[in-house]
Amino acid sequence: MVWCRRLLALASAVGCALAQSSVSYSDSGITWQGIFDPTYGVSYGFVLPPTTATGALAQEFVAEIVSPIANKWIGLSVNGQMAFDLLIVAWPNNGQIVYSTRYTTDYIQPTVYPGPIITTLQSSVNATSWKWIFRCQNCTTWSGGSLNTANPTVPAWVVGLIPVDTPSDPASNMAQHDGFGFWGQIWPLAHSNDYNSIISGGGSTPTTTSGAPASTSSAPVATATPYDYIVVGGGPGGLVTADRLSEALPNKKILLLERGGPSTAQTGGTDVPPWATGTNLTRFDIPGEFQAMFGSSGPTYWYCSDVTTFAGCVIGGGTSINGGLYWYPNTQDFSTARGWPASWTNYQSYAAKLQARLPSTDHPSPDGKLYLEQTFPVMQKLLGNLGYSNITLNDNVNFRDHVYGYSAYNFQKGKRWGPVATYFKTASARSNFKVVYNTVVASVARNGSTITGVQTNNPLIGPRGFIPLNKNGRVILSAGSFGTPRILFQSGIGPADQIALVQQSNVAASFLPPKSQFINLPVGMNVQDNPSINLMFTHPSIDAYDNWAPIWSSPRPADAAQYLKSQTGVFASSSPRVSFWSALGGPDNKTRWMQGTVRPGFDSVTTDYPYNASQVFSITLYLSTGVTSRGRVGLTSSALAAGALVNPWFTDPNDKAALLSGINNVISGVKQVPGLTLITPDNTTTVEDYVNNYVNLGSNHWVGSCSIGKVVDENTLVMGTKNLFVVDASIVPSLFTGNPQGPIMAMAEQAVTKILALAGGP
Ligand SMILES: Cc1cc2nc3c(=O)[nH]c(=O)nc-3n(C[C@H](O)[C@H](O)[C@H](O)COP(=O)(O)OP(=O)(O)OC[C@H]3O[C@@H](n4cnc5c(N)ncnc54)[C@H](O)[C@@H]3O)c2cc1C
Ligand SMILES: *[C@@H]1O[C@H](CO)[C@@H](O)[C@H](O)[C@H]1NC(C)=O
Ligand SMILES: *[C@@H]1O[C@H](CO)[C@@H](O)[C@H](O)[C@H]1NC(C)=O
Ligand SMILES: *[C@@H]1O[C@H](CO)[C@@H](O)[C@H](O)[C@H]1NC(C)=O
Ligand SMILES: *[C@@H]1O[C@H](CO)[C@@H](O)[C@H](O)[C@H]1NC(C)=O
Ligand SMILES: *[C@@H]1O[C@H](CO)[C@@H](O)[C@H](O)[C@H]1NC(C)=O
Ligand SMILES: *[C@@H]1O[C@H](CO)[C@@H](O)[C@H](O)[C@H]1NC(C)=O
Ligand SMILES: *[C@@H]1O[C@H](CO)[C@@H](O)[C@H](O)[C@H]1NC(C)=O
Ligand SMILES: *[C@@H]1O[C@H](CO)[C@@H](O)[C@H](O)[C@H]1NC(C)=O
Repeated sequence: MVWCRRLLALASAVGCALAQSSVSYSDSGITWQGIFDPTYGVSYGFVLPPTTATGALAQEFVAEIVSPIANKWIGLSVNGQMAFDLLIVAWPNNGQIVYSTRYTTDYIQPTVYPGPIITTLQSSVNATSWKWIFRCQNCTTWSGGSLNTANPTVPAWVVGLIPVDTPSDPASNMAQHDGFGFWGQIWPLAHSNDYNSIISGGGSTPTTTSGAPASTSSAPVATATPYDYIVVGGGPGGLVTADRLSEALPNKKILLLERGGPSTAQTGGTDVPPWATGTNLTRFDIPGEFQAMFGSSGPTYWYCSDVTTFAGCVIGGGTSINGGLYWYPNTQDFSTARGWPASWTNYQSYAAKLQARLPSTDHPSPDGKLYLEQTFPVMQKLLGNLGYSNITLNDNVNFRDHVYGYSAYNFQKGKRWGPVATYFKTASARSNFKVVYNTVVASVARNGSTITGVQTNNPLIGPRGFIPLNKNGRVILSAGSFGTPRILFQSGIGPADQIALVQQSNVAASFLPPKSQFINLPVGMNVQDNPSINLMFTHPSIDAYDNWAPIWSSPRPADAAQYLKSQTGVFASSSPRVSFWSALGGPDNKTRWMQGTVRPGFDSVTTDYPYNASQVFSITLYLSTGVTSRGRVGLTSSALAAGALVNPWFTDPNDKAALLSGINNVISGVKQVPGLTLITPDNTTTVEDYVNNYVNLGSNHWVGSCSIGKVVDENTLVMGTKNLFVVDASIVPSLFTGNPQGPIMAMAEQAVTKILALAGGP
C-alpha cells in the first residue's frame, strides 16, 4: 500500500522545501521548540536533554503532539524522509493514545520498528482534542540514519483523516496520509536544563487517561498587541509598503509578518557557502550563487513548500532568491491598455522614488569591469545582423523594439541589494515598525466588511496566534501571487469552489466567517506568467562556467578569492549577461513584445550530435507585454497548497504563433555568425515541434490573481471590504515589459501613497 507517495514526489521535486521554522512556546508547563500547523491545527514540539548530556541520555528526546479530534492519526518523520527514517505514528483510541515506531526501506506501508523505546509522559483525549507527550529513548540513531541535533534539520509531519484499520492495534495498517508538511526544527534551541524533571513528570503528573481529560495547562497564551497597520509578507510589495507607512505615520504601529526567516546577513541570515566560511556573505548576499538556488543538495528552505511553483519564502520574498534582473517601468507598463485605471498612468514620480532608493547597475562588479562577458560579442553579431541596436537599457525604458544591452540588476557593492538593503533597512530602524519572522498568516478575521485582525500560526504574538487591529486599523496583504489568494480564500473571499475547499479543511474552516458574509470575487482568475522557451547554442569563444555546478561547494579558486577579497568579479553578478527586446506581429494583428535573456551554461541539452559542453550558452525567449493568454491559480490539495489550476501559457494560440515567429527570427541569424551552432533544438527537430512539446513554459513572473479593477479597486482596497488592501504582484492586471520586480516596487510606491491618502484609516 502506498503510504507516502506524495511526500516522495514533493521531496524529489523541490528538495525538502520548507517554509516554517520552529519557535519556542510553552504548554503543560514545558517549554517546547516546535511548530503549530494551522492547516490541521496541530502543535508539534520537542525538548532535548541539556547539551552536556552524554551516553544514552544524549540519544533521546521528549516530544508532544496536540491535535484536534478530527485528525484520526498523526505521524512524525524525524528526518523528513519516508524511507530509512525513524517514523512515529499515534492516534487516540478509547481515551488512550496508541502509538508505535515504524520503519520502511521503500515507499510502502512502514512496519513496526523495535529498538526505540517510547514512554507516554502525559496523554489526554476529550471531545475536541487529543494530546500526547512522550519520551523517546534510543531515538537518535536507527538503521541507516541518525538525527544530528547540532544544526537545524527538516522533520516532517503527516496527518490522516481516515481512521487506521484497527485502532486498538499499535501495529495497525493505515491508508495514505491526507496532508503533510516539512518544517525547520531549530534543534540547538531545543535543549532544556529541566530535562530530567520533565522525564520524571516534573510539575504535571504523567497520566494515562481512560476517557476523562487529563488536567493539563492550556495551549500557549500570549497577550496581543493591537496594530494600526499589519502588512502580511515581506516581498518587494510588502517591504516598500511597510517602509513608506512607517515613514509617513510615526505615531502609528506598523507590523510586518513574514512566514519565512532571515535571508541576507543584514536580516540575520547565516547560510554562508563553504568557500566563504568566516564571512557574513550568505547565499542570499552573493549574486553569483543564484544558480545554486536551484541545484541544491540540501533542503531548499527558501522556497514556499506549499506553493507548487518556485516562490521565495524568506524575508525579501522573490527578491532574495531571484536573478536580480531589474528594469525601470515604462509607459506601457502602467497604461490603460494594460488594464490600469486612468488614475494609475501617471507612474513617473513613483518610478523616480524607486530609482532614487534603489538605482540599477549594468556593471555589477564594483571595480567597473565586466566578467564572463563572452556572450555579449556573440549576441552583438547575431542581433546586429538582425537590425538590433546596443543601448543602455534602463536609460531608454521606452525603447523596447530591436534593442539589446548589458543586463541591469538591483545589486550594489557586489551584493544582492534590492528592497531588503534599502526599504527594509530604513523601516527596521524605526521604533514604530516591528517585523516578526516565521509567522504564517492563515486568514483575516472580519465582521462583515470590517477586518478585525489576522489569524496566524504563532502563539507567541497573540492568543492562539490572533493579532487584533486598532480602531480603523488596516491589513495589507503582500503575500504574493499565490499567497495572497490563499489568505483571501481562507477569509471567505473568492470564488465559491475555493471557499468550499477551505470549508473541507477542519481547522481553516473554523476561521471562516458565516456563509452570509462570504464575498464572491474572481480571486485567482485573470492570471498571467510569461511563456518562455530556452534555446541552447555553442560557440568556441564561450566559457560555460562549468554550467554553474561547482559554485556552492568548489568554485573556481581565483574567482572565489577575488570575491572574498573585494566583492568583485564573476560572483558579483547572477548568471544572465545580455538582455534584448523586440516587438512582434501576430495573426490577430495585436503587437506583442519578446524579451531575450542570455547566460553562459544551460538547463538541459537534447541532441544526438556531439557538442562541447564547455562552450554552451542559453537564450531564454519570453513573450512579454501584450500576452493575451490567461490562466487561474488556487488551492491544489486538501492541505490547501496553492498553484496553477489552469496554466496561463498559450491558452490563446496567437501567443504561441507570435513567440514562434520571434524564435524563428532569432534562429534565422545563426548561420551568419561564424562558429555559432544551435544544439537544442538540433537539426532533427523543427522549432515548431520543439515549442509544441516544451514541458515547462513558466517564468516565475506570476501576476493578476487579484487584478486591480476586478478584485481590488483603484486604491487597492479589496472590493466589499472597508480596510483590507493588497499590494503585491497579484494586483498587476497584465504582464510588464520586463522581469517584474522593478515595476512591482514602483507600483507599491504608488499604492501606498493612495492608501495613505484614503480617508478612514487609523
Ligand atoms: C526563481 C525566480 C527567479 C526570478 N527572477 C527574477 C528576476 O531576475 N527579476 C525580476 O524582476 N523578477 C524575478 N522573479 C520574480 C519576482 O521575484 C517576483 O515577481 C516578485 O518577488 C513578486 O513580489 P511580491 O511582493 O508580489 O511577492 P513575493 O516576492 O512572492 O513575496 C511574498 C512574501 O510573502 C511571504 N508570505 C507568503 N505567504 C504568507 C503568509 N501566509 N503569511 C506571511 N507571509 C507570507 C513570503 O514568504 C514572501 O516573503 C523571479 C522569481 C523567482 C521565483
Ligand atoms: C536501539 O535501536 C536499535 C534500532 O534502531 C537497536 O538495534 C538497538 O538494539 C537499540 N538499542 C538498545 C540499547 O535498545
Ligand atoms: C481538550 O483537550 C485540549 C488539549 O489538551 C485542551 O486544550 C482543551 O481545553 C480540552 N477541552 C476540554 C473541553 O476539556
Ligand atoms: C559583515 O562583516 C563586515 C566585516 O566584519 C562588517 O563590516 C559588516 O557590517 C557586516 N555586515 C553585516 C550585514 O553583518
Ligand atoms: C554597448 O553600449 C554601451 C552603452 O551605450 C556601451 O557602453 C558599450 O561600449 C557598447 N558595447 C559595444 C561592444 O559596443
Ligand atoms: C459587527 O458589526 C456590526 C455592524 O457594523 C455591529 O453592530 C456589531 O456589533 C459588530 N460585531 C462585533 C462582534 O464587533
Ligand atoms: C489583420 O490586418 C490585415 C491587414 O489590415 C487584415 O487584412 C486582416 O483581416 C486582419 N486580421 C485580423 C484577424 O484582424
Ligand atoms: C571544449 O571547449 C573548451 C573550452 O573552450 C576547450 O578548452 C576544449 O579543448 C574543447 N574540447 C574539445 C574536445 O574540443
Ligand atoms: C546535423 O548536425 C550534425 C552536427 O553538426 C551533422 O553531423 C549532421 O549531418 C546534421 N544533420 C542534418 C540532417 O543536417
